[in-house]
Amino acid sequence: MIKQHLVLCRPGFAGALAAEFADRWGAESPECGAGKVVHKAAVAFPERAKLPPLAQTVFARQYLPSAMRCPGSDEAVVAFVMGRLETLARRAKGKSAPKQEAGQWTLQCFAIDDDPAIARAIKIEKLLMAAIRARMPDLPNQHAQIFIAGPDEAWVSMISISAWAHAGISPHPGGMRRMRKVPGAPSRSSSKLSEALEFLKDAGVEPAAGETAVDLGAAPGGWTLVMALRGVDVTAVDHAELDLPAASKMKGRVTHLRENGLKFRPDEPVDWLCCDMVMGSRQTLDVLAAWMRGDGLMRRFVVNIKLPQAAENPWPAVKEALELFAEHKSRWKILAARHLFHDRSEVTLLGAR
Ligand SMILES: C[S@@+](CC[C@H](N)C(=O)[O-])C[C@H]1O[C@@H](n2cnc3c(N)ncnc32)[C@H](O)[C@@H]1O
Repeated sequence: MIKQHLVLCRPGFAGALAAEFADRWGAESPECGAGKVVHKAAVAFPERAKLPPLAQTVFARQYLPSAMRCPGSDEAVVAFVMGRLETLARRAKGKSAPKQEAGQWTLQCFAIDDDPAIARAIKIEKLLMAAIRARMPDLPNQHAQIFIAGPDEAWVSMISISAWAHAGISPHPGGMRRMRKVPGAPSRSSSKLSEALEFLKDAGVEPAAGETAVDLGAAPGGWTLVMALRGVDVTAVDHAELDLPAASKMKGRVTHLRENGLKFRPDEPVDWLCCDMVMGSRQTLDVLAAWMRGDGLMRRFVVNIKLPQAAENPWPAVKEALELFAEHKSRWKILAARHLFHDRSEVTLLGAR
């Protein structure tokens, strides 16, 4: 059976993902240029492809290494997965697993976002757990990912627990890092900033009480609220109204300025630049470039750029952001662009000195 590396993304962005991998890593590993869109949310690469670390990509949400396509009914998927697990358990018999791996296994069975295949994923997971309980008290030390791609299609990837730890694979099923809505937040946008801050936290960077932030395009106030709840003093720039909860915690932390975010610059550098203005990506990049110039007006940033409408290829717009990063990379510890789970037709740029 053919094994391929399956790379998942937001539905509708598989073409952008294939374009990104070909453009950024095709020269190093020609197989990265040979990605085939096999699903609205998945691109398959030859198994020889040397995939880049997941966090360095823009559009990849999750890797399913050496995945096998498994067409057919629910029962066919269960039989296939059980067959693979039994073969791996037989092979492992007699060989002692590294101590830290003993007795460890994970199984993730999922569909993407709100795809109708979610009901099928839940059913197959239940069937699998029942079969495992009945037939396999000792599972091999494997991380199994089962992507339910449609009513009669699934992809199955199994790698050893130790290989999983080293492959930089997201611990979240399908790479979907769903954030809870921040209590009192006036917009769903707050989840984007919460997720971006989780990404930075993984890299050791977090907002701290007493720090300062400018939030460009702040209304109705979701991002401002996220920062203020962490004790950050926020200057919220937007001609529109803020709609923040009147909790005493917030008092004194938020200053609302009805100014143009394209032109606004703080009198003194701040710790954080947040920016979620609705406008073309080039305009937003011009703002970011102005803030990054010289010693920079901020130490950290989370900037959301809006991608062109679905019919167009969004890759060139994202490439412009990466070109801006390339100009500045010597001064910044982290510069990343990620299509976060909570991003729709937009990409989040993140940086820290
Ligand atoms: C998607 S909303 C921001 C949502 C916000 N991040 C939140 O969490 O509630 C985009 C905002 O950008 C603002 N905006 C657009 N152009 C702007 C400009 N030139 N200066 C300031 N704000 C601008 C709009 O008024 C709108 O409130």
